[in-house]
Amino acid sequence: MDREMSEICCDSEQKSRAKSRTLNKKRYNPVTKEIISELVQIVGEKNVITDEEKMEPYSYDETPKDQYAHMPEVVVTPHTAEEIAKIVKLANRELIPITPRGAGSGLSGGAIPIFGGIVISVEKMNRILEIDYKNMMVVVEPGVVTNDINEILAEKGLFYAGYPMSVETCFIGGNIAENAGGGKAVKYGVTGRYVMGLELVTPLGDIVQLGGKRVKDVTGYDIKQLIIGSEGTLGIVTKAILKLIPLPTAKVDLLVLFKDVKTAIDMVSLIMTEGKIIPTSVEFMDKLSVQASCEYLNEHLPYQQAGAMLLIEVDGNREDQVEEDAETIGELCLKNGAIEVYVADNYTTQERVWSVRRNIAEAFIVISPHQSLEDIVVPTASIPDLMPELERISKKYNIQIPCYGHAGDGNLHATLVKNPESTLEEWYEVEDKALRELYEVTKKLGGTLSGEHGVGSKRKEFLEMIFSPAEIELMKRIKRAFDPNNIMNPGKIFDID
Ligand code: LAC
Ligand code: ZN
Repeated sequence: MDREMSEICCDSEQKSRAKSRTLNKKRYNPVTKEIISELVQIVGEKNVITDEEKMEPYSYDETPKDQYAHMPEVVVTPHTAEEIAKIVKLANRELIPITPRGAGSGLSGGAIPIFGGIVISVEKMNRILEIDYKNMMVVVEPGVVTNDINEILAEKGLFYAGYPMSVETCFIGGNIAENAGGGKAVKYGVTGRYVMGLELVTPLGDIVQLGGKRVKDVTGYDIKQLIIGSEGTLGIVTKAILKLIPLPTAKVDLLVLFKDVKTAIDMVSLIMTEGKIIPTSVEFMDKLSVQASCEYLNEHLPYQQAGAMLLIEVDGNREDQVEEDAETIGELCLKNGAIEVYVADNYTTQERVWSVRRNIAEAFIVISPHQSLEDIVVPTASIPDLMPELERISKKYNIQIPCYGHAGDGNLHATLVKNPESTLEEWYEVEDKALRELYEVTKKLGGTLSGEHGVGSKRKEFLEMIFSPAEIELMKRIKRAFDPNNIMNPGKIFDID
């Protein structure tokens, strides 16, 4: 191989602020015609995309495009782990970066090919391979839409309890890569709790089986758990075994209106401490968030009189118990300053209120593409101390910081929004400073910078605010052990020199 090494560069990258944030000095080889031919041999012509227009949708995720997008050189859509293994071996031989991609609904740039190279999209690996009733497990390929798993399982009275807010569009493979959280984590925990086994193509192109249908397993290191949440930097998941639970048959949602943010937030821990109930969800929405989503959906919730709302869900398998819990929570809310409690006890109404909550992020992207959607997480008891800090940072930098999220587990989507009167240059500067302050107070309160969206390329420059050099070095050594040529989703979480 005597090809010249060259830095992958393109127009969008030059314009992009991502450049200074993401590119290190590591150089990769370009994807040549010969390499494209080899890819065609591996996956077939229909599964190799080189047309610029067709590749464009693979150049971004849900982060602001002008800051973080970057074009791949080629996109492949394999059908099997064996095909992926061959591509990974080729990438090692030729020193070409690979970016694994699910549905592209991520919020930290994890699926963006920041060095160009090959995007491996798992969109065609979308089969539910087995529903194992006896073991209460399901075996799926990574490109299955998470909600589809539950639609199929519902007929059988079973339930996969991972519930990212993008459940209708995201892929289970992406959920595993990010260890996605979402709206039901208060009671059910996050993705990792349900992943029993994984098939993985390692960064060297080996196909390995991690874990299995065993409830207990302490044989050797738990590599499976390390892969979950590693943001596609340690390999590509090609199959997953997921634990199921009985489908809860009863559910009640409460939409509770409060006059201000503080009263709503103070309520969160009272539900658990005084009410002695672990609800399925305790979602928080400030006025701006509800308003944005309602306008986006043309929905009419009574938000005018309220400064903040909680969406509280309780579920279970005994209707009387669920109703009693909902009543206890409702009364507790009214005793502690709620203006109004609306009860949603049928599917249509429940879907209406959840849709408002699910669509907040989408609504803000439409309102202002220049924003930073954060997912800081603090111990739940510290949420009341976090809220005034958001207000302080908002005033100091003269920006709006609407806030919503999974208050029940301390994971909040404070969203820094560009002031329409400032220039882009000013915004980037403000964004950087305000983010630093936000992460500082979060850390001071015992929190960290991401509860569910990951570090990706978006937050890697802030990693040292959270971890010590020794901690970061430990992670880098793991990365080097898995991926000596640094070809698997490079430039995510941290840069390897
Ligand atoms: C949500 C996404 C942004 O909770 O995580 O809506
Ligand atoms: Zn969220």
